[in-house]
Amino acid sequence: MSDFPFSTEASRRRTFAIISHPDAGKTTLTENLLFAAGALRLAGQVRARGENRRTSSDWMKIERERGISVSSSVMTFEYRDCTINLLDTPGHEDFSEDTYRTLTAADSAVMVLDAAKGIEPQTLKLFEVCRLRDIPIITFINKMDREARDPLEILEEVADKLALDVVPMQWPAGSGSRFCGVQKLTENQFLPFVKGQEEPLLPLAMNDPAIEQYLPIAEREELAEAVELADGGFAEFSLQSYLEGHLTPVYYGSALRKFGVSELLDALVDLAPSPKATKVHRNNTEIEQQPGAEEVSGFVFKVQANMDPNHRDRIAFTRICSGQFKRGMKLKTIAGKTMTISQPLMFFAQERGIADTAYAGDVIGVPNHGVLRVGDSLSTSGKLQYPGLPNFAPEILRRARPKDPMKAKHLRKALESLAEEGVTQLFKPMIGADMILGAVGQLQIEVTAERIATEYKLDVLFEPCPYSVARWITAKDDDTLQSFADRHKMQMAEDVDGAAVFLAKSAWEINYAQEKFPNIKFTATKER
Ligand code: G4P
Repeated sequence: MSDFPFSTEASRRRTFAIISHPDAGKTTLTENLLFAAGALRLAGQVRARGENRRTSSDWMKIERERGISVSSSVMTFEYRDCTINLLDTPGHEDFSEDTYRTLTAADSAVMVLDAAKGIEPQTLKLFEVCRLRDIPIITFINKMDREARDPLEILEEVADKLALDVVPMQWPAGSGSRFCGVQKLTENQFLPFVKGQEEPLLPLAMNDPAIEQYLPIAEREELAEAVELADGGFAEFSLQSYLEGHLTPVYYGSALRKFGVSELLDALVDLAPSPKATKVHRNNTEIEQQPGAEEVSGFVFKVQANMDPNHRDRIAFTRICSGQFKRGMKLKTIAGKTMTISQPLMFFAQERGIADTAYAGDVIGVPNHGVLRVGDSLSTSGKLQYPGLPNFAPEILRRARPKDPMKAKHLRKALESLAEEGVTQLFKPMIGADMILGAVGQLQIEVTAERIATEYKLDVLFEPCPYSVARWITAKDDDTLQSFADRHKMQMAEDVDGAAVFLAKSAWEINYAQEKFPNIKFTATKER
């Protein structure tokens, strides 16, 4: 027994995110994970829901038009004796900053690969984000019902490109029209695949004569040979090494055909970590907060405005890190704001509901009117501060202008609201009335324009501006900062939090300013 009162509840949580290149099958897998766990009655609803009405996942028009998912959300469901929280991450690289933040709220990840393609550019990028935090990763090789690349070749590619040890937990028998199923290597069982069979079949012992109807002799010999080769070629599975993020166990399946999905869920329950102790500052001293500890604490990793177009409220997605959260509780931020959380939201596969209790690993949505920002910590004492989530300097700067000049004030409000979500930045130059939008990629600019049109009924134009680089600036004392600002009045701006920002025409100009003003610190990330 642990000394902490809520350890048992925390240890029942599995909070994970799926990372994949667009089209590898993340949506299909999400849907069928929910289906296999009994959380969806009919597969097809994740997608259908997105098409029919606005939802927390896949809810924007632009997402539907382009078939990509750009806004993260969470879905909670039960499987075996665990509560599983699946965090949805945006599939497009322009949103990798958002993904980074979502991954700070996940304890592990599932990497989905297309069996015909292997590691694709976006898989690699998202993996690098996981590596920053050594997140344990389970690999799921999807679309085995289509012609796949040689399994050995894909595993070698994962090992080489990601510098990870790979351990196949299963070995596939054929692919495409010749796909017969997988051999479960640790159990020495065969899981048959029959096209058109919706109900998963039970695994058979490798020496069970009934296996023949699923695995013809020739395929069986081929499989035996491949398994023998694999046996010698890969390391033994080590739970420790997986948990440290050095090794990935590999599973196979077809999300579309509902094959191998329950096995993936079982792997999440059996192998994936429950919430662990988290580093946190209490009174400027770093301590480890145990998930089962008495004090309720958590942090906001995403803020979403206008989820309900009829209300201008915002939902702060908050990951609980310790304690037993109860509806109606008062939680404080480090800045001393107290919030009574009377309508905490929980997100399920088909609906959202009110969260009566939540434990470490769970995500609650806290409706608020702009009080909570990404990176804020909430706790009973108001003394716990989780490490800041970085804001990254934008790579594209655009001047925003309303089509109707009378609407400038409205536009400013809309841009501010969206910037407070933390995905785009808004810079207000010290001189003049310009509004400058900063984004990591072009798609973010398009999404912003689309959201302003649908959520605020405003037409906005984003035009080139003279600046291409923005840096937050700080100095040891206010005088130094002020004298720099006085000399660069035209290029000074502030962000939505009022932090000082220097806008430059080029990276060269930043370097030049840095040389001339060594006491000024120019940073490309801002921790909140
Ligand atoms: P994403 O969220 O990662 O972008 O991928 P998504 O699930 O939308 O899947 C992309 C395409 O791949 C979809 O086809 C989907 O049906 C297909 N797919 C996903 N998993 C499997 C699988 O295991 N086997 C096969 N054969 N196909 C799979 P689409 O034609 O683009 O869309 P749709 O018309 O089927 O909806």
